Parts: sequence; structure tokens; C-alpha cells
Amino acid sequence: MYQKPKGTRDILPDVSPKWQKMESVARDLAKQFGYEEIRTPIFEDTSLFLRSVGESSDIVSKEMYTFEDKSGRSITLRPEGTAGVVRAFVEYGMFNDPLPQKMFYIGSNFRYEKPQAGRYREHAQFGAECFGVDTPWGELESIDFAMTYLKNLGINKVELHINSIGCPDCRAKYNQALKEFAEKHIDKLCGDCKRRAKVNPLRMLDCKVPECQEIYKNAPKLADYLCEDCKKHFAEVQKLLKENGINFVVDPQLVRGFDYYTKTVFEFTCLDIDGTGKSLAVGGGGRYNNLVEEIGGKPTSCVGFGMGLDRLIMLLSEQKKESVDAFLMNVGNVGIDKIYPIAHQLREQGLKVECNLNNRSFKAQFKFADKIGAKYVCILGDEDLKNGEWTVKNLATGVEKRVKEQNLAITLLNK
Ligand code: HAM
Repeated sequence: MYQKPKGTRDILPDVSPKWQKMESVARDLAKQFGYEEIRTPIFEDTSLFLRSVGESSDIVSKEMYTFEDKSGRSITLRPEGTAGVVRAFVEYGMFNDPLPQKMFYIGSNFRYEKPQAGRYREHAQFGAECFGVDTPWGELESIDFAMTYLKNLGINKVELHINSIGCPDCRAKYNQALKEFAEKHIDKLCGDCKRRAKVNPLRMLDCKVPECQEIYKNAPKLADYLCEDCKKHFAEVQKLLKENGINFVVDPQLVRGFDYYTKTVFEFTCLDIDGTGKSLAVGGGGRYNNLVEEIGGKPTSCVGFGMGLDRLIMLLSEQKKESVDAFLMNVGNVGIDKIYPIAHQLREQGLKVECNLNNRSFKAQFKFADKIGAKYVCILGDEDLKNGEWTVKNLATGVEKRVKEQNLAITLLNK
């Protein structure tokens, strides 16, 4: 028997209503915040991710699904959404349009990670990218959008963590200090961190090995290396969040796993997931002021976030399945050929209708209608066919009435 690939999931019909809710709440809110939808390919040239996410990141160095296509091009299934959206922004010269340009997306990403609860090899994100805002109001609106999304889903136990990782200037100085620190502890660091210390010391702070994290507690702090502009920007972001009633924690260890970030980074952590006391990052984002230029566009300051839908779904309450308005029954010598066209007409009028596709007996049709939770059964027998009249029975009350065929829709719609 075939099974789904490791680290993937099937979204079965009983959980689909939850996914639909996450998507519809996202779409409605995006409209209110002025974001329009963009859909980019599920795969891109590998070099796009090397350039944007960064060669020294865990995602690029360990987790990408990369392969050669039949023409020998190196292709990668997207591990995240931002790079593709930025590529499209540059490819279509959107930096020439009035800014800000705001776009959202919902779609799958692929990372070859060790599967566990809340971590999959295919995961979905609702992401939002704002192009062309350099002021701290960009962070405020992006964070406000993400927090309102969580609130509208009914998810309240969320903590916002923020940090500033500075601009390339201050980060270069910090990286040098971190490198010197790492050299003093190099024997105790894991293999990955030994490599990170050489190519991109900031990535060491992302390390998941507890022994390394213990050592980094005494590492130089990024905040002490920020230039005046980055310091001012970060202070302003904090002021705006406070003034707008958004609680946050400044987390000096938060560096995020992508090379494209500049200045502010943030993460949304859900506390006490399923009552176990465990917490989980349900979303993250930040500012990326240099990425558009790095991949060939005009300098454009950006900020955005991605929410992990596979994690949010763990926190959503059960969503009601939409019930069936009516089951149309054929009895006696009446065939499905007399029923199906009526089902089609009723569906055109917006009703959710089922009929007897499996040639079930009278009794079995009733049983089935009950099983699928139909509100009404509409019965057509030989005499009814002659008179153009149906028997309509309300399954909850047991009340029956005779209804002319042309009045079926109105009767069912009036419920
Ligand atoms: P990220 O933090 O890598 O950011 O992913 C965003 C969210 O996706 C995470 O907080 C988590 O909830 C979810 N997620 C990530 N990996 C997995 C996985 N393997 N299984 C299940 N859920 C996962 C980004 O991807 C950035 N592109 C966000 C962004 C947009 N930054 C600026 N704009």
C-alpha cells in the first residue's frame, strides 16, 4: 500500500473546514489592510534562494529540495515565499509603480527537516510583503496585520518577540566580534557552529544545540553594535508598538534564519500549545531593505511576515461542516434521469443538494439522507411525476408538505 511521503500530510475532508477558515480570514483581512494576492511558482532557480535566503543558512545548506531538470538547470522547490515574491516584484518592474505595493500569498513550502509535531517537509504559509516603506510604520502595520489575523482566528495566547539585527554596516562589526568570541570557545562548539563561525557568525545564534546556546549566553550582544540609525529605528518601532497597544518582548537572541533581514526581526510565539506548557513559533518576519536591489531591482525597503498554517491549525477550534440542504429521492419507476436535472437547477440557485447516484432503495436513500445530515428529503414517485409535485419532508421536525416543482427552490431556501 502506498503511503504519503515522510513529513507530509493529507488534508482530509473533516479538517478542510479549518483550512478554509484560515484562508478566508486571511483573504478578508488582507483586503482591509490593502494587500492583493500574488501566486508565484512552486519552484524557482536554485540561485534565487542561495542569493536571498543565504548560502550559510540551515535552509539552504541542509533543507532544500534541489534537483536538475531535464535541461540540466538547477531547480529548487521553494522553501519559503518571500524570495519568489521579490523576484516577481523585480521581474515585472513593480518598483516603478506607486509605492507601497502590498502583496499576500497562501501556499506550500518545502524544507527537508526532521519531521515532528508542527514541523513538516511540506508546510503552508500565509505571507504578506510590503514593498517601499522605510519608516517604522512599516513594521507597525505588518505586525498589526499579523496580530489581527491571529485574533480574528480566535488565537490569543501569543507573544510577540522583536529584535534588531542592524544593517550590513553594524552587522559586519558584530560578526567580527562574534567570530573572535567563537575562536575562544571553538573546541566546545558543534561542527555546524565551527563552520558558521568562519562563514557567517550570526548564524551561530540560531543553533539548536543546547551546549552551544549555553556558550552564546555570554557572547557579545548585537544591541551594543547597532549604528545610530538602526538604534533610532528600533527605538521608534518599540514606541509605535507601545502607542498602539501591541505588547512585545525584546529578545536579543532572536536573529531569524535568513540572510535577507535588516534591522527589525520579529516572531509570534504561541504559549502553552495544547495545554502542555510547550510554546511554538506560529509566524515570523522582519524588514529586508536590501533584497530587491540584491536581486536586480531598484533599492526598495520592505517588510513582511509569514504565518505557519500547519501550526495555527493545531490551535483552532472545530469548524462546523456545511450541512446538505436537501437529498432528492426517486421512488417507484422514477429514474435518476428525472431527478438529476432538478438537482442541477437547485444547485444553480445556491442550494447544497445530493441525489441518488447509487440507485439505492427507498429505505436506503432515507438512511443515507439522515447520515449526511440533510435538512430535507424531496421525494418524487410515479404519481408525483405526473402532477409535477414533490413531497418535501423536514427531517428534524418530521413535517411533510406537497410542493410544486417550480416552488422547490423557494421552499428549501425559506427553510
Ligand atoms: P519562517 O519563520 O521560516 O519565515 O516561517 C514562517 C512560519 O512558518 C514559522 O513561524 C512556522 O510557523 C512555519 N513553518 C516554518 N517551517 C515549518 C515547517 N517545517 N513545518 C511547519 N511549519 C513551518 C519565513 O518563511 C519568511 N519567509 C517570513 C517572512 C515573510 N519574512 C519576511 N516576509
